Amino acid sequence: MLTKTSPTLADGTKITDLVNTATREVQLRALSDPEIYELEMDRIFGRIWNLLGHESEIPNSGDFMVRDMGSDSVLITRDKDGQVHVALNVCPHRGMRISVVDAGNTQVHTCIYHGWAFRPNGAFLGAPVERETMHGKMMSKEQLGLKKARSTLYGGLIFATWNINGPSFDEFLGDTKWYYDMLFNRTDRGMEVLGPPQRFTVRANWKAAGEQSAADGFHTLMLHRWLGEVGNYSKKIEGEVSTGDLSPEMYGVEISSPHGHAMRCIDLARKIKRLTGLDPEKLSVAEKLAALPPVGMSKEMVSQLANHLSEDQLKVMTTMPPQVGGMFPNVLFGFVYLPQADGTVVGSMTMHAYIPKGPDKLEFVNWIFAEKDTPPELREKMLKQTIQLFGTSGMVEQDDSDTWPHMTKSAKGAMGRKSTMKYQAVYETGKPAGWPGPGIVNEGFTKDDTQWHWWLHWRELMTTEA
Ligand code: FES
Ligand SMILES: [Fe+2]
Repeated sequence: MLTKTSPTLADGTKITDLVNTATREVQLRALSDPEIYELEMDRIFGRIWNLLGHESEIPNSGDFMVRDMGSDSVLITRDKDGQVHVALNVCPHRGMRISVVDAGNTQVHTCIYHGWAFRPNGAFLGAPVERETMHGKMMSKEQLGLKKARSTLYGGLIFATWNINGPSFDEFLGDTKWYYDMLFNRTDRGMEVLGPPQRFTVRANWKAAGEQSAADGFHTLMLHRWLGEVGNYSKKIEGEVSTGDLSPEMYGVEISSPHGHAMRCIDLARKIKRLTGLDPEKLSVAEKLAALPPVGMSKEMVSQLANHLSEDQLKVMTTMPPQVGGMFPNVLFGFVYLPQADGTVVGSMTMHAYIPKGPDKLEFVNWIFAEKDTPPELREKMLKQTIQLFGTSGMVEQDDSDTWPHMTKSAKGAMGRKSTMKYQAVYETGKPAGWPGPGIVNEGFTKDDTQWHWWLHWRELMTTEA
């Protein structure tokens, strides 16, 4: 049951008025205001399903890692039965952190302050000097366990929420699950991380990165123009001259979601044509899969797809697959085809989470994946390409993480904070004929709709109470 409340900021502004639905504008102050940030920790990050990592990061019994869920540190563990647990990394005794390291392996987590001890599943084991019952007699041992979050695995990705009775993870994904399954649930053995995630700090508000991840295709033409001039997309079909103009790549299908998720589905026809010299329209699904296997897969692996995906999903996957987008509120995925100088194509499978660390600071976490069955040689190429383009040293995201701090600074200026961000490029197209997938679907040149839906959901969560 959600209750409408209109929180009001100290200067009398209502949160609901920060997003103007008539003109599709958002007050820039949303990117810097500490009051808004505090409310987000509770109403957004306290409620949504947070991406914390992948189970392949903690493969063995007793493995654990420490991550952040909004403003809280959490302990992610694997117990003796192989179950993954997520618990608040706060000692129920006096509030010391249970784990002060990033990752490790243990069957007993002992607080370094007074020594209260816990199992990987969060159960309280006991306190030192047992005969003195130093945990007291007022509460049972069952009541003294770690505060557990509700967690789930999706394609091995670990998600958790404090909203214990809230929507299920599938409800959270809604219609977009049909598309996400094409990325995360498509092979027999699933995916795994290629090493621990890269992590780095950006002096920016988390929403600057979060709303961009809601499928902002437009900025690519300007901010990442080098991709078309000298980068992976500079090579054109024979006879075409490389102008640096990436706009032909920006036509496709975009999926928006009332839950703020978003994705860009990008046409594969040009790549298939270049690789086979044939007209993609005349190729069957199987022929297209053989010509250009999905990102991260070899030709030998494509037969697995039919075990997991419907015919309609395969049709989309071989014509207009989701390649980049976001999961509300702070996750980006990239399952991107990257043309190589030798005419081949290498895929990149990457996910980012932008962890809020204050109104003007975020931690950028970058996971790089492959399918467990991806052959070593392809895996090596994927890793190299992904590191080169995405994450800490990646050329694409050095561009992005240059803009976010500037936007955050603009949002602090006495005049700048009164500016607005505009999302007024509106789709007027709708679904392409015969499109089999669900959701809010529009075809054509990239527009602002996906990001606008992101803000609408932000507003909805910020103005309702669970
Ligand atoms: S604070 Fe953890 S044992 Fe005292
Ligand atoms: Fe970008």
